[in-house]
Amino acid sequence: MASLFPSFLRLTLLLTLLASPTFLLYPVCIVSALDDELSVTDFDLSLFHQDYSPPAPPPPAPHPPSVSCEDDLSGIGTLDTTCEIVSDLNLTRNVYIEGKGDFYILPNISVYCSFSGCEFAINVTGSFSLGENASIFAGTFELVATNASFGNGSTVNTTALAGSPPPQTSGTPQGIDGAGGGHGGRGAACLMDKEKLQEDVWGGDAYSWSTLQRPWSYGSKGGTTSKEVDYGGGGGGRIMLVVDRFLEVNGSLLADGGDGGTKGGGGSGGSIFIKAYRM
Ligand SMILES: *[C@@H]1O[C@H](CO)[C@@H](O)[C@H](O)[C@H]1NC(C)=O
Ligand SMILES: *[C@@H]1O[C@H](CO)[C@@H](O)[C@H](O)[C@H]1NC(C)=O
Ligand SMILES: *[C@@H]1O[C@H](CO)[C@@H](O)[C@H](O)[C@H]1NC(C)=O
Ligand SMILES: *[C@@H]1O[C@H](CO)[C@@H](O)[C@H](O)[C@H]1NC(C)=O
Ligand SMILES: *[C@@H]1O[C@H](CO)[C@@H](O)[C@H](O)[C@H]1NC(C)=O
Ligand SMILES: *[C@@H]1O[C@H](CO)[C@@H](O)[C@H](O)[C@H]1NC(C)=O
Ligand SMILES: *[C@@H]1O[C@H](CO)[C@@H](O)[C@H](O)[C@H]1NC(C)=O
Ligand SMILES: *[C@@H]1O[C@H](CO)[C@@H](O)[C@H](O)[C@H]1NC(C)=O
Repeated sequence: MASLFPSFLRLTLLLTLLASPTFLLYPVCIVSALDDELSVTDFDLSLFHQDYSPPAPPPPAPHPPSVSCEDDLSGIGTLDTTCEIVSDLNLTRNVYIEGKGDFYILPNISVYCSFSGCEFAINVTGSFSLGENASIFAGTFELVATNASFGNGSTVNTTALAGSPPPQTSGTPQGIDGAGGGHGGRGAACLMDKEKLQEDVWGGDAYSWSTLQRPWSYGSKGGTTSKEVDYGGGGGGRIMLVVDRFLEVNGSLLADGGDGGTKGGGGSGGSIFIKAYRM
């Protein structure tokens, strides 16, 4: 990866996964020099028919207190020296990990934080590594570290694990037309019932009002075609990597929307934000 970029240029890599009307997801990738702010918000944002202006975002919630390496994560060591996760973890609540040391998830280990919207956040002064073939499943994965490496065959998978929409938005299509999830705007549905107007069959609306320069939104859920069963695919989750020095990614970072199938709309993709001195 490193040879693709001038070596000492500070890079900001933004990937925003945008959803099409129902099932297809188009990743959009923007690479820019750090101090050269993108001007995407300068485009003419005149509202489309039946669209609306978004409300102001609520302030971010504070982090919970940090967990401990041995007691809470069954790891070896301490967060202020070196903490190694040596066995699979099944988390049942949001976890925030903070320390002045290194944090390593060893090869083959899986960390499941796999309920919708589960947040797994790591903030260490040293290095982070996700070993070969190791995986993390979470709604939100947030990493702040000096160096970080993601081994061969490793996965950070937030697919279809989006949390609840923020206040003031519905997030999910309201009717039973099986519309798709939305992201920066509303998802659409094919108008098959001639008795209905297009505005009655809109898909999900935006899940939050994060900027394109720093995407931090969940994807929204797809609609269902049944009153009883929810067939909609889940929205994609959020991944943020902020690495002060060196980042090496040989694995996959996924924030896709979940599939809907023939009875529901697909979820929309979530957000991936990567910032590193060198990657
Ligand atoms: C994690 O724990 C929950 C609750 O105990 C259980 O329902 C789920 O199957 C477990 N998942 C894995 C991957 O072990
Ligand atoms: C990882 O798991 C695979 C298959 O389960 C096994 O063959 C391999 O030896 C394991 N590697 C390590 C380092 O434990
Ligand atoms: C990371 O931890 C430091 C303290 O070690 C704190 O000042 C900083 O705000 C934390 N950053 C994030 C993004 O949580
Ligand atoms: C980060 O990586 C660089 C290059 O490998 C190394 O010189 C430096 O000591 C590392 N820093 C930390 C905190 O691990
Ligand atoms: C990782 O998985 C690959 C392919 O399944 C396997 O060849 C390799 O030995 C695994 N590595 C480890 C450390 O288990
Ligand atoms: C990533 O892959 C490159 C070669 O493809 C290898 O040199 C490097 O050691 C790998 N790094 C990690 C962290 O797996
Ligand atoms: C990662 O895979 C590459 C080839 O894809 C191989 O050259 C490299 O040695 C591997 N690195 C590790 C640490 O297994
Ligand atoms: C990621 O998670 C989704 C949903 O659980 C799953 O369908 C997909 O196979 C996973 N992908 C990888 C590479 O683990």
